[in-house]
Amino acid sequence: MSDETEDFHAPVLPGEGASDYERYLRTDELLALQKPAGERVHHDELLFQTVHQSSELWLKLATSELEEAASLLGRDQVDPALRLLRRAVLCMQYITSQLDMLGHMDPWEYQQIRVVLGHGSGFDSPGFRQVSRVTRRIAATFDDLLERAGLELTDLYRRGRELEQLHELAELLTDWDEKIWVWRFRHYSVVARAIGEDTVGTQGTPVQVLGKLLAQRQLPKLWQARVRLVELFDAEREGG
Ligand code: HEM
Repeated sequence: MSDETEDFHAPVLPGEGASDYERYLRTDELLALQKPAGERVHHDELLFQTVHQSSELWLKLATSELEEAASLLGRDQVDPALRLLRRAVLCMQYITSQLDMLGHMDPWEYQQIRVVLGHGSGFDSPGFRQVSRVTRRIAATFDDLLERAGLELTDLYRRGRELEQLHELAELLTDWDEKIWVWRFRHYSVVARAIGEDTVGTQGTPVQVLGKLLAQRQLPKLWQARVRLVELFDAEREGG
């Protein structure tokens, strides 16, 4: 029963902040993480920091979900892993769509921001480093799972209807890899728009290197399986 004299506006949680909302979410600290207006070399620095910082947060959530999904798969708990993978895929979609915001920066004005980034480069993004690490982990876990089930990836697709759960897992992992690929492509076009393609980044990397990365897949077996399915289908058809 609630006490009628209770002041629901008064904070009850421990910590700094005027309200429980601010205490729980630690908004004072969060909102102090962007340069104050007086320290910005250009108005758009807030936009630039917001997109990057929120990307790191979504990647933190995505990789935490993927890590847990890998642990669940290691214990053959496929259904709860599927739920977490769906979330991770959505995180990757969010960070891709928020790249649109960077298209609102003028390429000439961006030059002022570029020079205050030091040697700061996306290659050192903690979120993306985790993406690579945790994707390798879940790939290995998936391989083990198929081995325990005595299945080849191609069997899983050919018998998709009877292996619904594993089929969904394979498709969600493909979604994850596809979303990384799409992010990379979109990031490449953002970079080209901001600084062009025949130039170098803040760590001296030619932008063309980013173009080459577009050909990379984190989960190549899932893509190779498609090629094999074409071959198998054609061989079966030719064999009558
Ligand atoms: C105007 C905006 C941006 C520009 C001009 C830009 C530029 C670049 C450049 C030139 C590189 C190559 C490495 C270097 O020399 O720095 C790079 C790599 C990278 N950037 Fe950005 N970037 C932008 C926005 C972002 C955002 C919002 C993220 C999100 C976290 C991000 C994440 C990365 C990552 C992860 C790499 C490593 C390459 C990869 O894995 O594909 N960048 N960026």
